[in-house]
Amino acid sequence: MKIAVGSDHAGYRLKGEVAALIQELGHEVSDLGTHSEESVDYPDFAVKVARAVTGGEADLGILVCGTGLGMAIAANKVKGIRAVTCGDTFSARASREHNDANVLCIGARVTGGGLALEIVKTWSESEFQGGRHARRVQKIADIESSS
Ligand code: RB5
Repeated sequence: MKIAVGSDHAGYRLKGEVAALIQELGHEVSDLGTHSEESVDYPDFAVKVARAVTGGEADLGILVCGTGLGMAIAANKVKGIRAVTCGDTFSARASREHNDANVLCIGARVTGGGLALEIVKTWSESEFQGGRHARRVQKIADIESSS
């Protein structure tokens, strides 16, 4: 799989660890920045990763900011994105299996590094289950189209 990663300054360090893990797991990483701890605006990176996913350059995206909240709000403005903020592995798995989440957001100031990497591993290894969940995800897309 190809996974695009992005962060703001608050998530910069953890993004590096996430990128290394993704590679260890055998995936290709596309790091869309930021590339230092200099203060930046998280929506600029959320949109880069979100568009990489909807444009097909990446299969999935992972975003890291201080809380994982602003990134999710911004990424979800891009049509076709289902971004979730996860701080536990149960939600991470369910977000792929039930919601077909295509962007994972993590809060580096909230979730410790060890747990964050477990969340990334669980999320990237989980697959959408389809079936009744596909009908519900389609209803989300219908809301988006009619808004
Ligand atoms: C940056 O200070 C912080 O607001 C950002 O990383 C994120 O938490 C936004 O949701």
